[in-house]
Amino acid sequence: MQIKKCENFCSDSAVDSLLLLMSEEDCGELSSLPSQLSNLIPTIKELISRKDFTGKKGKLFRLSLFDSNIKNLYLIGLGKSEKINLNLIRDSLAWGFRTIGRDRNKNVAVILDRFKKCGKLSFALGEAAGICGYVFDKYKTKDENYEPFSLSEICSDLYEPEEFEKGLKVASAQVYSREIANEPGCAVWPETLAEKAESLAKEYNLECEIWDENKLKSERMGALLAVGSGSKNPPRLIHLTYKPANATKKIAFVGKGITFDSGGLDIKPDNFMLTMKGDKTGACNVLGIMKGVAELKLNVEVHGFLSAAENMPSGSSYRPDDIITARNGKTIEINNTDAEGRLVLADALCVASELKPDVIIDMATLTGACAVALGKWRAGLFCNDDELANKILKSSDNSGESYWRMPLEDEHIAETLKSKFADLTNCGERYGGAIFAALFLKEFVGEKISWAHMDIAGVDFNDKEYGVYSKGASAFGVRTCLDYVMNL
Ligand code: BES
Ligand code: MN
Ligand code: ZN
Repeated sequence: MQIKKCENFCSDSAVDSLLLLMSEEDCGELSSLPSQLSNLIPTIKELISRKDFTGKKGKLFRLSLFDSNIKNLYLIGLGKSEKINLNLIRDSLAWGFRTIGRDRNKNVAVILDRFKKCGKLSFALGEAAGICGYVFDKYKTKDENYEPFSLSEICSDLYEPEEFEKGLKVASAQVYSREIANEPGCAVWPETLAEKAESLAKEYNLECEIWDENKLKSERMGALLAVGSGSKNPPRLIHLTYKPANATKKIAFVGKGITFDSGGLDIKPDNFMLTMKGDKTGACNVLGIMKGVAELKLNVEVHGFLSAAENMPSGSSYRPDDIITARNGKTIEINNTDAEGRLVLADALCVASELKPDVIIDMATLTGACAVALGKWRAGLFCNDDELANKILKSSDNSGESYWRMPLEDEHIAETLKSKFADLTNCGERYGGAIFAALFLKEFVGEKISWAHMDIAGVDFNDKEYGVYSKGASAFGVRTCLDYVMNL
């Protein structure tokens, strides 16, 4: 996407489209619009008087113009002006650009300066520009009516090149994560994730270490091996390292990479199994984050772990009642083979802890219970350190991804982690399922390490496109984590 700064596009050369973000108050008081729009004011006034457009949030209005050097006018409502913030602007820009790019416009002009008080507008503009054209349509046959996304140039009255570039990079990290997460289970299995990690490492000069099934055995990764045992596609532990010369902090990200979650022998019913290709989202996000930190050249040592397996039923599957031994020596009685995410994370959290990082952040589509509690638009955040939790919540604010902090202290639920025959059981009772899973993970985090766990079940996948989101994988978590590392 090209961008240029333009002060006065209404009299500059012709543009295909103008995107105008307007609050309800703007609609009542058109004199608040910048003077360069004066030619358009009578038209907009007419639309408002007909109530075709009132500035209501979530409304988009398109109008073709004649006798104007602007061919198409797009209005997006922002709602009440007191509620306008950077996230609303970012989402509105992405929505507007997506629509404009599908309508065969090649360029768009935007007026942003008047929202300056919202913060990093050039950054948000870059994010919106970088993500607006993304759709997962590679498997659709393109016929002669297919209209490729045409938008390639933005003119903006406000444009700081460095910030815009950063926004583009954060967008490309998300697109990269989505692109892999959207692939079905027949196209991506643990070895595929390992190949992707290797090519990422080559491109950005990262270290990359991959443990195959033999190495996993000799490294005592009993939990990851158990989960992967039912599939003909063997499990992998993938470790990427980004290590700038003068880094002062060391952060590890750990992602759940179940390339397909059938439930295993405790097989899922049909409607629950659907979308379980998305159970690798945590791992895809870690790939996205590694790409992001490398492109942004952040001055932090970052480790990315992907714990990858396919959870399938077969004659070689791990079974309910099995007792397995995780890397740290703790024994786990399997109560349910569908509670596999916590198992693959357990071993990976041990490996990450051995590096003694300042912070570990894991992300996983871990429990349906979390999605039931918080809905599909808010992730669960569990954290053993208030300062870290607050930093992540601040980054969540900056990035527009919502989290809700969940309890990590619960003596009653902790009691249910005990097993009759082993140190732990992998599955407790139905109630409090997300907290149980978090408490289980805690057993594998090294002492004195600040740790956060993001349960992204439900938020990983969108049925509809909205704001910056396309249909399918959301890469939820990438923006928050990149913002966190950027602000260290
Ligand atoms: N991958 C699922 C969780 C999930 C559910 C993610 C819905 C995204 C949307 C996880 O492995 C799982 O199956 N969890 C079980 C745990 C139960 C057996 C304790 C669940 O949530 O039902
Ligand atoms: Mn499962
Ligand atoms: Zn799962």
